[in-house]
Amino acid sequence: MKMEVKDKLGRGLRDLRISVTDKCNFRCRYCMPAEVFGPGYAFLPKGELLSFEEIIRLVRITVPMGVGKIRLTGGEPLLRRGIADLIAMISAIEGVEDIAMTTNGVLLAHHSEELALAGLNRVTVSLDALDPVIFGKMNGTGAKVERVVSGIMTAKTFGLPVKVNAVIQRGVNEGEILPLARWAKNAGVDLRFIEYMDVGETNGWDMSQVVTGAEIMEILSTEFQLSPRAAAYRGEVAVNWQHDNSTEEIGLIQSVSAPFCSDCQRMRLSADGKLFTCLFAAEGHDIRSILRSDQPQETITRAIRDIWTSREDRYSELRGKVAMKKAEMSYLGG
Ligand code: GTP
Ligand code: 5AD
Ligand code: SF4
Ligand code: SF4
Repeated sequence: MKMEVKDKLGRGLRDLRISVTDKCNFRCRYCMPAEVFGPGYAFLPKGELLSFEEIIRLVRITVPMGVGKIRLTGGEPLLRRGIADLIAMISAIEGVEDIAMTTNGVLLAHHSEELALAGLNRVTVSLDALDPVIFGKMNGTGAKVERVVSGIMTAKTFGLPVKVNAVIQRGVNEGEILPLARWAKNAGVDLRFIEYMDVGETNGWDMSQVVTGAEIMEILSTEFQLSPRAAAYRGEVAVNWQHDNSTEEIGLIQSVSAPFCSDCQRMRLSADGKLFTCLFAAEGHDIRSILRSDQPQETITRAIRDIWTSREDRYSELRGKVAMKKAEMSYLGG
């Protein structure tokens, strides 16, 4: 039986984003700058990570509250051993309608077949540039763009629909907007441009580095004929446009210039079992200790219900008016 919950602003709980590891094989400057996340950085020890069984218990508890969409994130989720087993376990849960994964794509070619067989419905790949030099600089490790492109193509071969996310930073990769759009249209993938956000405390974000969705649209319209398409579902973060002469779409995720908090139905679970009610929250609610203390199911259900019904986050709408310490995106999940 569904026992749907609403937060203080009347928003339901639809989307659960599960971070399965805080580690990543990239060091994107806007997310995990190498000088902060260096060789000595203390990532979570294995025992602190939620086990697959613990994650599954949480999914089972939140589905009756309204959750239908699950997104696996990280860090880089393909670094978590046995991730396809977790997907198979989630896809067996009644009420889960959609399982997606956000990945940097470097290991995707290798894993596509098992992910598709396990029941993954689709994959979102981050790709900020096609130019090898710009891409190498942005990912902080010199990883090759061909590997990501080959991951995308392999995923499609195994029937996984692919969306590509590109974060645009002024002075870094705005020159990649048109090449990415041309490539995505030809490759048959949907593309979304993301405004650079002030998540975490380490990326040195500054408003001057944000290329707004309006600016991106202006650049795109020099070459492409695009028509607006209606939101696919309530609370969709991207505003989408469709090419006049093909089925592919281009979206804009404008969390800085046009916040979408009023429809935000997302809860995030960090790899060590903390629930975050906002991407910009300073702290999460520790659910792992309740899970590990042999409490009856109702206690966990009540704890999560209380977290959601007390929620009043709307950081992007308040940006600039509140000052607080924020958790890193690689830890709490994109
Ligand atoms: P679809 O289900 O495919 O539409 O994807 P989604 O809406 O879950 O989007 P996705 O996970 O691909 O998110 C893309 C990016 O949008 C994220 O990596 C973030 O950068 C940003 N984003 C997603 N959710 C939020 C959110 O709740 N708040 C803010 N501020 N940004 C978000
Ligand atoms: N601003 C915007 N998007 C970001 N991402 C990571 N850090 C930021 C940021 N500061 C994006 C990644 C990936 C997703 C997980 O979040 O590029 O697409
Ligand atoms: Fe890794 Fe994604 Fe962060 Fe880049 S944005 S460092 S790929 S988690
Ligand atoms: Fe949701 Fe917080 Fe993002 Fe607003 S800023 S859309 S409340 S996660």
